[in-house]
Amino acid sequence: MDQVDKSNLPRHIAIIMDGNGRWAQNHSLGRIAGHRKGTESVRSIVEACRRIGITYLTLYAFSSENWSRPEKEVNALMALLERYLKSELKTMTKNSIRLLAIGETGALPSRVRGVLDETIAKTAGNTEMTLILALNYGSHDEILQAVRKIAEDAKMGVIESPAITEESFADYLHTKGIPDPDLLIRTSGEYRLSNFLLWQMAYTEFYFTETLWPDFREEQLIEAILEYQKRERRFGLTSDQLQKKRS
Ligand code: IPE
Ligand code: IPE
Ligand code: MG
Repeated sequence: MDQVDKSNLPRHIAIIMDGNGRWAQNHSLGRIAGHRKGTESVRSIVEACRRIGITYLTLYAFSSENWSRPEKEVNALMALLERYLKSELKTMTKNSIRLLAIGETGALPSRVRGVLDETIAKTAGNTEMTLILALNYGSHDEILQAVRKIAEDAKMGVIESPAITEESFADYLHTKGIPDPDLLIRTSGEYRLSNFLLWQMAYTEFYFTETLWPDFREEQLIEAILEYQKRERRFGLTSDQLQKKRS
């Protein structure tokens, strides 16, 4: 952790936590055991981010496409989520972590929704770090919903076409008020976005690792941050222009 440059931390890290199933298979266990082990990584990474000083952490926990998995697995994921939320309130309070959720959380089982809403409400005043869980999240759906809402607002005269800017459009997304991710991490050697934060990641740095999510802990997180700190984020400019801007 000492090697991490505190003056150049990613403000927002987003993670596609992938590989629980393969981890379980490698250990001759059922997929659900892999998800259970994955929860330990969630705890460890949330804690590490808080300690390092990351202010926003978004975790892709359940995609809108994941409903198509076997019913038993979906139920187990929901039960794990409920248990995780119940067990973490104390730590979130102690560490001043605010919880938010993105995605169609209204479609989650009512017990999960209940504890989710309660945890969000109880942690709303926490200020040190924001943990955002992507639950029943799909980027296409999020963007389409935004477009529909803008169309309605335009019809009602609330917004006019020239006022639809990058900034005002972003306010129609679930991530309203949250800065775009600086660093995306995907575990398990898959090189795709799987419908995650497509609008928000236009200029995000991508980091892919072969490590499976249940094996991804603080040490691996620090490796990812160190790699991020080697990158030059040019935002379309030349390297020379950036040097001049900095000096
Ligand atoms: C990620 O692990 C967890 C979720 C998608 C909920 P997977 O369950 O996708 O693990 P693999 O990809 O099958 O190994
Ligand atoms: C992405 O992982 C979703 C989550 C990590 C929650 P998947 O395992 O569902 O992604 P694909 O299907 O391999 O693209
Ligand atoms: Mg997967």
